[in-house]
Amino acid sequence: MLENKNILIGITGGIAAYKICNLIRLYKKEGANVRVVVTPNALNFVTKLTLQTLSGNEVYADNFEIKEYKPKHIALTEADIFVIAPASANTIGKIANGICDNLLLSTACAFSKPILIAPAMNENMWKNPFVQKNLVKLKNAGYHIIEPETGFLACGTNGTGRMKEPEEIFEKTVEILSEKQTLKGKKILITAGGTREKIDPVRYITNSSSGKMGLALADRAFDMGAEVTLISTFKADKLYKNIVAQTALEMEKAVKENLAGQDCVIMAAAVSDYRVENVSEQKIKKQGGEVTLRLVENPDILQEICKLSPLCHSVTFPPQGGQRSQALNQRIEQEADREQLSSARSSTPSLTPPPYPLPQGAGECAKPGGTPANSIYLPPPLIIGFCAESENLIENAKTKIRKKGCDYLIANDISRKDIGFNTDENEVYIIDKNLNIKHIEKDTKQNIAKRILEEVFE
Ligand SMILES: Cc1cc2nc3c(=O)[nH]c(=O)nc-3n(C[C@H](O)[C@H](O)[C@H](O)COP(=O)(O)O)c2cc1C
Repeated sequence: MLENKNILIGITGGIAAYKICNLIRLYKKEGANVRVVVTPNALNFVTKLTLQTLSGNEVYADNFEIKEYKPKHIALTEADIFVIAPASANTIGKIANGICDNLLLSTACAFSKPILIAPAMNENMWKNPFVQKNLVKLKNAGYHIIEPETGFLACGTNGTGRMKEPEEIFEKTVEILSEKQTLKGKKILITAGGTREKIDPVRYITNSSSGKMGLALADRAFDMGAEVTLISTFKADKLYKNIVAQTALEMEKAVKENLAGQDCVIMAAAVSDYRVENVSEQKIKKQGGEVTLRLVENPDILQEICKLSPLCHSVTFPPQGGQRSQALNQRIEQEADREQLSSARSSTPSLTPPPYPLPQGAGECAKPGGTPANSIYLPPPLIIGFCAESENLIENAKTKIRKKGCDYLIANDISRKDIGFNTDENEVYIIDKNLNIKHIEKDTKQNIAKRILEEVFE
């Protein structure tokens, strides 16, 4: 089950450290290569010799014991997942605040793949507001937390704080690692949040969208291995790329600038239909009477990118010279391997990337009028829109998908108080181009997001 997987385990100074011996065995039994990094305090609870014998690898504890050219905290990041168990309150706090004063912490800070944290501590420590705040910070940044359970604790009391059993940590690891496969190699752009249309420097018009649905989609897509770009009306401290765009016009610009090369675009943001025509440079003062704001229509970003995207997916090769960026090179190679290109390849004369390099950033967007002979045609991204309706949900959604021209439309009912805008749950209908409808029952936004991604990428 875990053949070819490299699992890095991080052990901190908690009494549950002894249970990790069993976790190592579970991973090893399924064929994983396991390496272990410990905090100096962890070695008070479990020995290097035991961990070394069970993992079959050297156990790492010291930042500065250099035996190879690469610093250890960088060498250790070459794993598929970092499982920190047990995670002490101390280590959780340090990771959440970017502190790197031991090898485990430096590795966590430099680790770009999934990190699973299994906290274990006394109940009062667990309930401590600072510990909870740190955990929220980590969750929001995309770390996986396997919450402790309630039961008999090593300190002799009953309460919450007992680390989940190794079997459950093992299951969670497998779940995360298998999620990684599905969207690996895909680039996904997601928008989130309600736009803010300025009235003056301190006031704006907005809507009730919290951005939670878009954020959940970005989190899940990232967990499933995608290279995510989140364009949101708020700042998101995440492990993936985040661009803040607050107004509809800023969002339009950011989406268009980041469109080329995407495999999928999900427009989950609630973009205001109107903006104030003349935004006041100074704060508007009370003048003892009425104030009239004239509103003008905003661009329909979803509809525009549906028209634009096929054009933006041709890469043109210049006749000679110049530097081709490494990212573009990789992209061309990936695309050239794609099945979708086989038909385009046979109908377009020179689709093989030429041996000479492209000028930096050149030709990522073709000019209108089709794919020139010296171009490679990249399949247009899958475009998914959202529609929030307060009445006739399905009928309105069907009309909208025909009008906008996107591949899928996710419809949700905003007349209900328990789902949709500004809540943690949702219930949606996925409508495709052929007007097939799939109902996804009420669930957390995280789970709904996963179902949407599974449905459209199945
Ligand atoms: C016997 C004993 C058991 C401990 N168990 C825990 C624990 O389960 N969880 C925890 O957060 N701290 C526990 N601590 C406190 C940590 O060891 C301490 O906060 C330490 O600084 C953690 O260091 P580390 O995070 O670098 O490993 C325990 C301490 C002792 C002496």
